[in-house]
Amino acid sequence: MEFIHIKDFRKIYDDNVAVLNNFNLDVRENEFVVLLGPSGCGKSTLLRMIAGLENITAGDLYIAGKRVNDARPRERNIAMVFQNYALYPHMNVYDNIAFGLRRMKMSEGEMQRRVEDASGLLGISEFHRKRPDQLSGGQQQRVAIARAIVKTPQVFLFDEPLSNLDAKLRNSLRGEIKKLHIKLNTTTIYVTHDQLEAMTLADRIVLMRNGKIEQAGTPDEIYNKPESMFTAGFIGTPQINFFPVEIQGEGNRPVAVGDGLRMPLPPESFNLNIGQKVVIGIRPSHIEMVGRNDGGAVATRVDMLENMGEETLVSFTLGSTPGVFLVLSDRAPNRSEEIFIRFMPNKLHVFVHDSSVSLRRKIG
Ligand SMILES: Nc1ncnc2c1ncn2[C@@H]1O[C@H](COP(=O)(O)OP(=O)(O)O)[C@@H](O)[C@H]1O
Ligand SMILES: [Mg+2]
Repeated sequence: MEFIHIKDFRKIYDDNVAVLNNFNLDVRENEFVVLLGPSGCGKSTLLRMIAGLENITAGDLYIAGKRVNDARPRERNIAMVFQNYALYPHMNVYDNIAFGLRRMKMSEGEMQRRVEDASGLLGISEFHRKRPDQLSGGQQQRVAIARAIVKTPQVFLFDEPLSNLDAKLRNSLRGEIKKLHIKLNTTTIYVTHDQLEAMTLADRIVLMRNGKIEQAGTPDEIYNKPESMFTAGFIGTPQINFFPVEIQGEGNRPVAVGDGLRMPLPPESFNLNIGQKVVIGIRPSHIEMVGRNDGGAVATRVDMLENMGEETLVSFTLGSTPGVFLVLSDRAPNRSEEIFIRFMPNKLHVFVHDSSVSLRRKIG
């Protein structure tokens, strides 16, 4: 059942430009939805409209079956965690966490129990007497998350909560946010521009572009069945390779012909027309080195090698189009070596050139 129902949202700021228009989204109870997209696409605006921090120009917002367009933030039973922690600098950690509860006029005993439970979950009990400026960024963000948890809200909203942290802390706190959700199961909407955060945390990713939903689906669907070049390019590192080609026929078999590229395509896989211009997408882990005479082999030369430990990233060029693939480091070729590569046929994506929309596979 949908728990948050966003219907025909429209948002216009003072400058009269619509940031969101006809935006619809349902979030199920207990679901962890990640809003992903480039900076400026409207993620924070949407989150703040749900929280009640921005007014809703037009449309309806239902939470747990109740229309809450006009409810004040406090009445929505939502807790939000921001990128910049937003702690009260003059209060110690305990008082920061307890702040929302004090306003709810809760008994001291219940309040203490809740603050201690949340602090225990986030490993910050020892900091209760410290002020925020005596803590590291990661510790401050734990305090902000604890402050959200103690209120036992019906919805958690996170707006890029890890963006101010260094890479190592980001990874560990990301894991903790995931564990918290497994434990508390609170319906969550999480905003990020980081595709790895989205992939690792989400039950469902909602990829946004210019105030619209580009594609929504499980991480597996978004990664393996991108419906557009935008989606394919936004998800996955190293980034997917794109090669523009024209479809030619060889007998009744389609062949992709591009700059420095001639490759038979699996005839049954895509609805292709002779003469059609398309873009082939292939992820770096779906290109393999093969022998000169193997089927589908394409000749190229190694431009650059980047050793990443277990794997090495190999750069090459087909005609004038650059590409990369991953190979186990102990099988890596040498720089400038002439090599033959093959795109794994069942991992190919084909995008229609003009519209950048993916052709769905007929099979598989
Ligand atoms: N208070 C505001 N007044 C006017 N324009 C705004 C305001 N907040 C955001 N915007 C504009 O709305 C668009 C979406 O912004 P935002 O929701 O912050 O995007 P995101 O969080 O995805 O980076 C941007 O073009 C931004 O400049
Ligand atoms: Mg934002």
